[in-house]
Amino acid sequence: MASTYRDALAVCAIALACLASVSRSSPLTCKDLIQPLDEANPRDYEGSWALVADSLKVIKAEAPVETCESVRINFSNSMITKANLCGNQCQYLSRNITVDGPHFSFSYGPLLNFSGTVFKTSCADCMLLTFRVDTPKEKTEELCLFSRRRAEDQKNLEEFKAQVKCLEMPEHVVMDPTKELCSMNPDHV
Ligand SMILES: *[C@@H]1O[C@H](CO)[C@@H](O)[C@H](O)[C@H]1NC(C)=O
Ligand SMILES: *[C@@H]1O[C@H](CO)[C@@H](O)[C@H](O)[C@H]1NC(C)=O
Ligand SMILES: *[C@@H]1O[C@H](CO)[C@@H](O)[C@H](O)[C@H]1NC(C)=O
Repeated sequence: MASTYRDALAVCAIALACLASVSRSSPLTCKDLIQPLDEANPRDYEGSWALVADSLKVIKAEAPVETCESVRINFSNSMITKANLCGNQCQYLSRNITVDGPHFSFSYGPLLNFSGTVFKTSCADCMLLTFRVDTPKEKTEELCLFSRRRAEDQKNLEEFKAQVKCLEMPEHVVMDPTKELCSMNPDHV
């Protein structure tokens, strides 16, 4: 399933730590790496995105948090559509999204709340965001790297790894790009 580029990234993390200790004005400080967007405009994100890497922090869960083979989201007219392939089944969720500066939120009934923050990334075809799930049974926080592509190159994954560290999130997984994405046919939504 998901694999990590542990060894290569560990080398990167060490290099980052050394740079940071040598020079305080290094361009790779957490302050530089973690910058919320000034304004998240859903129009800038229209269309389909695939999750390429993810760090999941489980704050509370009554049952094991479901893992998915692939995650796809689509923004269209301030609507978010999620299409997750989990256990060989496509799960769809479509909601109006509320945006406030870099923060976004949407809910599903009174009990399921989703929220997050969009961050800057130097990866041109990526979208970096935190994603919080808050339900009576489950509370999780994720740092997600979405891309227009199915996989990202090493440089962009290294930046993501550093961002995961900065936010003190658990080690990330890289999604398997060979897993199918669920279709975004509106009939399914
Ligand atoms: C996905 O986004 C595209 C571009 O905004 C839009 O044309 C399409 O209808 C969207 N599909 C769904 C299922 O939301
Ligand atoms: C989303 O918002 C639009 C306009 O405010 C509304 O017409 C539409 O019914 C809403 N859709 C959902 C799924 O809530
Ligand atoms: C979800 O958000 C709504 C509106 O912001 C709030 O009233 C509600 O209490 C929240 N639900 C949970 C489970 O946090």
